[in-house]
Amino acid sequence: MCGIFGYLGYKDALPFLIEGLKKLEYRGYDSAGIATLDQGKLFVSKCVGKISDLESLLQQKPISGELGIGHTRWATHGQPSHLNSHPHEDCNSELVVVHNGIIENYLELRQELTGRGHKFKSATDTEVLAHLIEEYLAGGLFHAVRKSLLMVRGSYALAVISEREPGRIVAARHGSPLIIGHGENEKFLSSDIPAILKYTGRVIYLDNGELAEISAEETRVFGLSGKALDKEVSFISWDPESAEKGGYSHFMLKEIHEQPNAIRKTIEGRVEADSHKIHFDELNLTDAEIKKIDRVVFTACGTSWHAGLIGEYLFERLAKLPTEVEYAAEFRYRDPIIDENTLVIAVTQSGETADTLAAVWEAKSRNAKTIAICNVAGSTIAREAHGVVYTNAGPEIGVASTKAFTTQLTVIYLLAILFGKRRGLISNNEAAEMISRLVEVPQKIEQLLLSEPRIEAIAEKLSGATNALYLGRGKGFPIALEGALKLKEVSYIHAEGYPAAEMKHGPIALIDENMPVVVLALSGRRYDKILGNIEEVKARGGQVIAVASEGDTMIAEKADEIIYIPNTIEPLSPLLAVVPLQLLAYYIAVKRGCHVDQPRNLAKSVTVE
Ligand code: AGP
Repeated sequence: MCGIFGYLGYKDALPFLIEGLKKLEYRGYDSAGIATLDQGKLFVSKCVGKISDLESLLQQKPISGELGIGHTRWATHGQPSHLNSHPHEDCNSELVVVHNGIIENYLELRQELTGRGHKFKSATDTEVLAHLIEEYLAGGLFHAVRKSLLMVRGSYALAVISEREPGRIVAARHGSPLIIGHGENEKFLSSDIPAILKYTGRVIYLDNGELAEISAEETRVFGLSGKALDKEVSFISWDPESAEKGGYSHFMLKEIHEQPNAIRKTIEGRVEADSHKIHFDELNLTDAEIKKIDRVVFTACGTSWHAGLIGEYLFERLAKLPTEVEYAAEFRYRDPIIDENTLVIAVTQSGETADTLAAVWEAKSRNAKTIAICNVAGSTIAREAHGVVYTNAGPEIGVASTKAFTTQLTVIYLLAILFGKRRGLISNNEAAEMISRLVEVPQKIEQLLLSEPRIEAIAEKLSGATNALYLGRGKGFPIALEGALKLKEVSYIHAEGYPAAEMKHGPIALIDENMPVVVLALSGRRYDKILGNIEEVKARGGQVIAVASEGDTMIAEKADEIIYIPNTIEPLSPLLAVVPLQLLAYYIAVKRGCHVDQPRNLAKSVTVE
């Protein structure tokens, strides 16, 4: 996810652009840049780093003009670097484009453009837009953008300015948000509402497949076909603070709801629609190296460690590879027996967790191959590992990790299929079937989120608890651990996740009417055993909240509360089962008056040992 901002008016654009990008910095902060048009001349300033770094650069070399566009980047194609930062220029440096999204067919477009003599400077998908628009520019900027977009597949929110038409911004949207603000003789363009709300509440929402030609006099909106559209101007009454959260009360809730799109973005551009071939640009493992891997070790902390536990099941099941999961802090101080045929997979949202970084260094010192599954491009662990697969969840602001976790599971699932295919264990058809099921998950989560009011009601009942037990079997066990961690983190209720089969070896002594027990009771080969565990709890007066599969008719006779989740194939059930537990923890914390987004004693990224 990236942030785009534009200004067109009668004041100097620079302060608006900087302020707007700061408001959008949560959408991406590995590099930033702006471009202005002053007396018909284009000026560009960009750098790696945060908006504050760009601000320092501009203090040394300011640029001016009453029209400009800006971008804060969340790298997907091409590492964070000066050349890869936006805006991107055409060959003649007479137009620039900023873009949020993924151009899926950028490789073929780049080859064609290079073949026609275009010179590329960056490794980004975005730059193909600048060169495509250049080719049609003679017909006018709007025409050039529209013609170019007819050749593009993928998602975009973009803004373009050119020296040839100094009084206008052309913008377009497909799959990534873009809003036009109408001020008093000023126009604003933004990836989201918070960045323009302080200037105006009068906005036009661009919809998918729409383009806008913005000038001081008017905003004209068209479809990709070129047909003029009559768009109404809406009025936003949000207060700026709540708008940062997109109208949600907390970032954690917003990010729980962002999971369907976060999973879509993580899949996007990595699975070829027809062949279902999986490719990760920066995995840095050849087929031969993959075939030589004889063991996998996941290493991580906290929620990411739980993702590793799911990875253990998936790699053993789909790739038939011996797999272990290690707490990073333990791994780095043991004497792990690993070598050049071991693949160590570091799972980390922030890419800055000190223990996980040390584990990667330990693995590298023993010649193991290392890859990072990471949500922050250019982060330390992403750079230190031999290869990286990014989750494209967008910045996760809430300390309690939610969308990072489900996108980690998405990547791990695809990796396990990739390894299974490379090791000759999964046919193309089987892979296609498994990927089709994954592609259905976002919509199933959207369906699941409709049960939010029911989960909030259950949270009401549990908010007075002082302890809680979460039980699961198979892949339900890591989800039980994750549900317990969520509850602990944000509500300060002591909660433990346990393998359900372990109940009789101790924890059952804890069961009484004051101990709520959350049970992952999903259909599958362990279902009958789980029902037995529920009976054990009920027989001792415990109250059972079950997460069950839609259509399960038996569970209603056993559990006190039931949260049904849509059916999917068993390897994907964790992606769905975790969502009600995230919501349960969130609503219990809210009802207990806890600071959900910044829980006490916690930090979003633990960069100390
Ligand atoms: C999860 O909700 C916690 N915030 C925490 O356990 C987190 O998962 C852990 O600190 C690891 O962080 P990382 O994924 O950024 O490495």
